[in-house]
Amino acid sequence: MDASETIELRTGRRMPVLGLGTWQLTRETAATVQGAVEAGYRMIDTAVDYGTQPGIGEALRRIELDRAELFVVTKVEEDDQAYDAVQRDLGEIGLDYADLTLIHRPPPSGAGEALWRELMRARDDGLVRDIGVSNYPGKLLDTLAEATGEMPAVNQIEWSPFGFSDALLHHHRERNVVIQAYSPLMRGRRLDDERLARVAEKYGRTPAQILLRWSLQKGTVPIPKANRRAHYEENLAVFDFELADEEMSALDALNEHYSSLGTLPYV
Ligand SMILES: NC(=O)c1ccc[n+]([C@@H]2O[C@H](COP(=O)([O-])OP(=O)(O)OC[C@H]3O[C@@H](n4cnc5c(N)ncnc54)[C@H](OP(=O)(O)O)[C@@H]3O)[C@@H](O)[C@H]2O)c1
Repeated sequence: MDASETIELRTGRRMPVLGLGTWQLTRETAATVQGAVEAGYRMIDTAVDYGTQPGIGEALRRIELDRAELFVVTKVEEDDQAYDAVQRDLGEIGLDYADLTLIHRPPPSGAGEALWRELMRARDDGLVRDIGVSNYPGKLLDTLAEATGEMPAVNQIEWSPFGFSDALLHHHRERNVVIQAYSPLMRGRRLDDERLARVAEKYGRTPAQILLRWSLQKGTVPIPKANRRAHYEENLAVFDFELADEEMSALDALNEHYSSLGTLPYV
């Protein structure tokens, strides 16, 4: 198993089980993305406000890989005209279609029904293969699906052993919605936790690898960001070991609803 391994979405299409985040990946974006794809990443996550779309486009043009081998995730902002925003982002990256486009966060009022209908139209017109949301609590996901007749394929949320919700995971599983785990390394802020270090030592792995392995074994899809080659290569080397139930439980017990943004929007 490696980073080209895929998980089935509710639409029947498939998505890689691990991807590269690109928020703040502004130092030599093109070279880093190129290096990461050459190292084995097949999914790249971006958004217009990350400023990485042009660099990602440059990298993808340099790489000799079939478009079908790559999975590109884009996002529309809550105040965007979503259909136009999809076209804007494709233009910035230089792609004919995105594999997955998400509503970046719920708008201040409502569940984002108008944005969602525009994304459905973009999907029907072939600009996007799959559509989903980000930062949505379970209830809001249901409201959106009830109002529009279509459940998102993916919800991208902050997710790590220090901040997650088994209730939300269960809710999403019942509806066949895949969780993409953002800030899976907690932006590096808790990598020195002693309890995490004990698990890492037992497996002869780094704390970052343990966090990513936990995410994979939860059935969620981590998208760690790494500027440094040593980091993005390390984050790929998580497919040749498995955490035992005992360590999965020990990691689950770290949950303190930690959020690098302040509060998890879904608990
Ligand atoms: N939908 C949303 O609202 C939302 C919000 C936040 C993030 N995201 C997405 O999720 C992605 C990941 O989240 P994130 O960027 O917030 O945080 P993250 O992936 O948890 O952490 C990134 C930080 O960890 C460091 N790092 C990476 N691999 C490491 C390793 N093996 N050992 C030690 N440190 C390591 C990176 O350093 P270097 O860069 O120096 O290598 C960087 O400082 C984002 O880039 C973005 O694509 C989405």
